[in-house]
Amino acid sequence: MDLLRSALDRRRHGTHYADRMHRILGVCQDCGLLWHEERVSYRNGQVELRRVDDVEPVGEVVVTPQYEKYGLRVRPRVLNRIKNLGPQFAYALNVPTTTVEVDGNVVYVRVPRPGADQDPLVTFEQAWRIAPDIPRGSVLLGIDEDHQQLVLDLTAPSSAHAAVIGMTGSGKSTLIRTMVLSAQMIGGAEIALFDPSRGLRPLSGHPSVWRGGMFRSAEECELGLEVLANSIGRRRRGLMYVIVDEVPDLVAQRPRIKDHLARIAQAGRHAGMHLILGAQHPLATELGSTTLRNIAVRLVGRVADRNAAYNATGRRDTGAETLRGRGDFIVVNGATLRHFQAAYVPDDWLRRWVARFPPREPRLPVRPARSPSHVGSSGRGLDEIPDSVVEEIRRFMRKNGRRPSLNWVYRMTRECLPSGGFGRDKAQRAIDAAVEGLG
Ligand SMILES: Nc1ncnc2c1ncn2[C@@H]1O[C@H](COP(=O)(O)OP(=O)(O)OP(=O)(O)O)[C@@H](O)[C@H]1O
Ligand SMILES: [Mg+2]
Repeated sequence: MDLLRSALDRRRHGTHYADRMHRILGVCQDCGLLWHEERVSYRNGQVELRRVDDVEPVGEVVVTPQYEKYGLRVRPRVLNRIKNLGPQFAYALNVPTTTVEVDGNVVYVRVPRPGADQDPLVTFEQAWRIAPDIPRGSVLLGIDEDHQQLVLDLTAPSSAHAAVIGMTGSGKSTLIRTMVLSAQMIGGAEIALFDPSRGLRPLSGHPSVWRGGMFRSAEECELGLEVLANSIGRRRRGLMYVIVDEVPDLVAQRPRIKDHLARIAQAGRHAGMHLILGAQHPLATELGSTTLRNIAVRLVGRVADRNAAYNATGRRDTGAETLRGRGDFIVVNGATLRHFQAAYVPDDWLRRWVARFPPREPRLPVRPARSPSHVGSSGRGLDEIPDSVVEEIRRFMRKNGRRPSLNWVYRMTRECLPSGGFGRDKAQRAIDAAVEGLG
């Protein structure tokens, strides 16, 4: 609790901060920006020089887990010059970098906090407890710079889909884990997990997980995403989050994943389906610009340079290239931009989740087998019953010690196969095939 209080102690007045504010104003003064003199003439002919302040400190210093923020109210005549003083401020404060952000007529000098590398940052629990009644349809991100809980409402029309972008170590998978765990705790949504990096595995045993497990290989992911994309417009489902980490990797291995994601990004919202994608670099090449336009929310962590920042956010001057990593993120959606610290789920919490909901293999969908007329054979051979269905039936039999009902086979195949459920005959043949194989 003490940690929480000190980490979240909102605004500080201490001498450290006063000293730094003085140094910042000192830089402005050295550059001749602090004030100027204006000539005032009075009616009696007297002329006087009056001093006009161009830069004044505003409010208290804002302290976040990774930054201190010093606010200056600035007159327009000096704004452009102040914007370029980042390196001078850094030198005066003896820190590696500072960034200068403009918000109306207030300029913020953002100073990285020393020692933040060792500091405990914001945990899932701390962020969650600020307001534990997050509505269904929203997921938790972390805390913003006013130490308010920040959530993403995926059911709002302007934020139906989100991409998490940043270089390795920026904290993408960590943030995605926080979003998924919050969705599981809030309840009321099905969650489809696609993740070759396995970072989501500890959350994959929860009953909310689509098909009971996480899809890992590119082949599995392609199949699963195909089934989801094809289900749009056909089957009514409730709210569903489709989480895909390492998207560029997956698309490189299985290019058709691009089409499935395009379909979900374009039409998924009407079917209650919302994408959360993770990628090390902006996705324009992998997904195409049309799809990317449908993914309006960009959660951007540290990126390599200004160019990457522009591509990731779709905006100039977001400063994403100066983010520090370890969950230091901005969220950009249209004209809004907000800085936040992503909450992280500590290992012991993950261990508890795993013990309570042990991860399992997903029930894999199978491609519809080609109809026998295509392959030129006559009659209806057993080859049209996919191995995975046979395997699924055997798994049922091993677990329950009896054959499944025809109805069970129908339901299972309806869920697993894009081509739909087996009728009575075919279900019976599938069961026979499974029994035969068991010998
Ligand atoms: N919100 C956070 N708070 C504290 N530490 C964090 C946070 N996010 C990430 N980290 C630290 O950074 C490390 C890397 O995070 P993560 O695996 O999420 O990065 P990533 O962006 O997914 O990288 P990659 O692209 O290589 O998969 C974590 O192991 C953790 O130590
Ligand atoms: Mg990752």
